[in-house]
Amino acid sequence: MKILVTGGLGYIGSHTVVELLNQNYQVVIVDNLSNTSLDVLDGIYQIANVKPDFELLDLRNKSDVEFLFKKYDGFDGVIHFAASKAVGESVANPLHYYENNINSLVYLLQEVLKNPNTAFIFSSSCTVYGQSIELPITEKAPFQTALSPYGNTKQIGEEIIEDVVKSCGLNAILLRYFNPIGAHHSGLIGELPLGIPQNLVPYITQTALGIRTELAVFGNDYNTADGTCVRDYIHVVDLAKAHVISLVRLLNQKNVTPLEVFNLGTGNGHSVLELIHTFQVVTGVNIPYKFVDRRAGDVESAYADTQKATDILGWKANLTLADALKSAWLWEQNHTSKKLANTK
Ligand code: UD1
Repeated sequence: MKILVTGGLGYIGSHTVVELLNQNYQVVIVDNLSNTSLDVLDGIYQIANVKPDFELLDLRNKSDVEFLFKKYDGFDGVIHFAASKAVGESVANPLHYYENNINSLVYLLQEVLKNPNTAFIFSSSCTVYGQSIELPITEKAPFQTALSPYGNTKQIGEEIIEDVVKSCGLNAILLRYFNPIGAHHSGLIGELPLGIPQNLVPYITQTALGIRTELAVFGNDYNTADGTCVRDYIHVVDLAKAHVISLVRLLNQKNVTPLEVFNLGTGNGHSVLELIHTFQVVTGVNIPYKFVDRRAGDVESAYADTQKATDILGWKANLTLADALKSAWLWEQNHTSKKLANTK
């Protein structure tokens, strides 16, 4: 089975490629390296002992997408990760987000539809729910107005796929991630933020290493147990495994409806302070932090109702918050020391 993984050198993409290779799928990665590096390909090879095919292409170029599908004579499955994902950047440069996240999806689907039997998995996000009225959040919770162009591209992306499934005979699964954190237990692949990290865990690990002096905690006056925001932090390896399970479901035509949607989270909400505390306990490293104003666009609390994924996919997150933070710390130390060695 030949599987195309777009954005396969990115954070979630690379962990999914490892799980696919572990299950002996033939994997073709396409990535434009806009937010990652070729070193990730080495990391994947070291872990899985197999070299996936790699195409340095940009899905915003329609002709590149056509070339890709011609070269490999189509694919049995496509897992589409390639997208920009920084909330703040999307507010500053919305058209970049619409071009990158929407145009590439359209071009990809145009090629996929030449063989509508192709299994299609879309990387979505809990951001589509905004501040949901119900907690935990089920897949039935309605979309709220997107708080950023990034969030809007995930909503529009889902709607485009829904329309295509309705009229063109495609089978697809939308996976709505809560907050992916952690790294592969080998410490060979993980999250690679460019510049100052926008997300909490890379900021914590860089502070632990002394690259950042202090973590700013965005708001301590929320209506939560300790006043800081609550999120559902899910280990990236658990998340990667859910993609393989979803793919197998589509490939074996076990899906009940042509379009299925699943939340991927742990079902547990943790506050920012809990995360800092757990990190300190599992690593023994102190994290200096201070409270600052709320960050614009942050929701107060978001955590998943995971019943549907458990009942239908037979998937459940197995790894703990402590596992995730330990692996993130190992990865931070490994790749930072490698980076320093390379600049010497
Ligand atoms: C955001 C996106 C989500 C996306 C994820 C990963 C929204 C609403 N959320 O999640 O869709 O999948 O990024 O790209 O679009 N925090 C601090 N200090 C920091 C950084 C973060 O206190 O330096 C806090 C935030 O206020 C938040 C929590 O930590 O409460 C998690 O933040 P972050 O890791 O940025 O993820 P989200 O904003 O939840």
